[in-house]
Amino acid sequence: TWRAALLSALGGTAYVGYQVYKEAHPTEQIPQSDLKPNGNKRKTIVILGSGWGSITTLKHLDTSLYNVIIVSPRNYFLFTPLLPSVPTGTVDVKSITDPVRTVARATPGQVLYLEAEATDVDPVSKKVTIKHKSNSMTFGEAMINEEEPIITTVDYDYLVFGVGAQTTTFGIPGVAENASYLKEAHDAVVIRQKIFNSIEAAQLLPVGSEERKRLLSVVVCGGGPTGVELAAEVKDYIDQDLSRWLPGIEKEMTVTLVEALPNVLNAFNQKLIKYTEEVFKRQELDLRTNTMVKKVDRKNVYAVHKNASGEQESIAIPYGTLVWATGNGPREITKSLASKIEEQKTARRGLLIDAYLKVDGSDSIYALGDCTFTKNPPTAQVAHQEGIFLASHFEKLSKIDDLQYSIKTETEADKLDKLNRRLERAKASLRPFEYVYQGSLAYIGTERAVADLVWGDFSNVSTGGSLTFLFWRSAYVSMILGVRSKILVCFDWLKVGIFGRDCSKE
Ligand code: FAD
Ligand code: NAI
Repeated sequence: TWRAALLSALGGTAYVGYQVYKEAHPTEQIPQSDLKPNGNKRKTIVILGSGWGSITTLKHLDTSLYNVIIVSPRNYFLFTPLLPSVPTGTVDVKSITDPVRTVARATPGQVLYLEAEATDVDPVSKKVTIKHKSNSMTFGEAMINEEEPIITTVDYDYLVFGVGAQTTTFGIPGVAENASYLKEAHDAVVIRQKIFNSIEAAQLLPVGSEERKRLLSVVVCGGGPTGVELAAEVKDYIDQDLSRWLPGIEKEMTVTLVEALPNVLNAFNQKLIKYTEEVFKRQELDLRTNTMVKKVDRKNVYAVHKNASGEQESIAIPYGTLVWATGNGPREITKSLASKIEEQKTARRGLLIDAYLKVDGSDSIYALGDCTFTKNPPTAQVAHQEGIFLASHFEKLSKIDDLQYSIKTETEADKLDKLNRRLERAKASLRPFEYVYQGSLAYIGTERAVADLVWGDFSNVSTGGSLTFLFWRSAYVSMILGVRSKILVCFDWLKVGIFGRDCSKE
């Protein structure tokens, strides 16, 4: 009835209001100290990174049990699933970032955040060397004097290694110098600026000239979900919005997606791959499968295309904007840590970890997310679940530690017996991490998305289309960590729905 609807609307609004208030008004936190109230040493957890794995760990951790220090060159969490929407202005970059300090202040204990990157981990002395570094476009490193960067060390009892991965170039010549990536917030801003630099420059050249065509060509390399979503967003933007401000541009501008394998979105169901390729064809997005990029220079992408009969031909694709999205490779700090641990000598694609996310060959370093190599895919979904697991694992370790401390100081036999039994129970409560796959979603353009969904053990649904797009949107809003960001993203979509996307460079 209308009364029930009204009541639930009021209830919903009150709940959201309360969450917003809670997020904006942090309460007192238990200060960091050497000892816990029971006299036991308060151990230090150093968390590296502020991405999906690390921030989820922080958010779910009872930070009053440890002295928690978080170190990351990025003083915010970035909601990567909506990053492909940023270059076109579908979503504002500020809407998908949450400050580390906002997350830290909402936990029970005081957390120290240091804006720095870890440059070295010494697993023997349990020390991390950190250097001030800001992951922003305008500021890199702050110096003590003109050339001396701020470098210091932090000691840890437990290290949470969640530094993510970097986009791999496979050493292909010219990529690092000429291409943009889509990994960080500023990458999205750079892509927008490059697209508009090329569009504005092209207006100075005669229509139909080769140079004008080149400038108006956007090439995306890598047909994984990152490349597909970005290419789809850019094509949408040209057809739906740029065409209003620059009539005719939709016929001149091209978006090319280059993929080495026979299909895009290879992790998805075959039916959805076909559907995606049909949607691309309809919206005239130039899809080049079986095309392996070999070299890049300032103006062209050089590739080898294998045709249906297996013959290979060399092709050149001129570009004005080039985005490189061919997957993940380990960061230097990950390779450096792996080289120091005997059990990690075979770790080429990421750290090897056990069922409790403990780094093989270490008793105090835990690793999660894209910097590890496991049977699970390098996704936010995995890193998020690992973060929740790790937070609860650390609470259990704290309990075990406290019981062991009490056992050491207890003299009465019956109390000791009780404590020992509690310790056994606490140890038995340590369970291995189990990943629960909930499905994959990707935006493919023209307000269509594809979804491979899983409900329970037996029901898998593969679906694509406009309804899936609405599901995609609601699923992503529910995945966003902060209430503020959830609201901002919804407002962004509303704004674009009313006014369309603008065409300023910034
Ligand atoms: P990240 O989230 O990358 O975080 C790494 C953190 O470590 C960052 O804060 C970084 O600044 C910090 N760091 C780096 N170097 C150092 C250092 N030396 N010292 C200290 N800190 C350091 N997955 C999905 O499941 N669904 C999606 O829809 C989806 N969409 C995506 C869209 C894009 C454009 C991209 C790029 C990825 C997407 N992913 C998605 C994948 C997902 O983002 C990653 O799997 C996830 O971010 C991994 O989490 P992480 O914590 O391991 O690393
Ligand atoms: P990816 O590894 O999934 O895809 C990279 C693609 O680039 C591959 O298809 C590969 O064949 C292709 N490639 C490699 N070298 C090439 C070359 N020289 N020339 C042409 N093509 C080449 O990488 P992506 O898309 O960056 O994703 C990384 C991870 O993040 C994945 O696990 C993915 O599932 C996840 N992700 C998930 C999203 C979602 O669920 N919507 C969105 C974005 C990323």
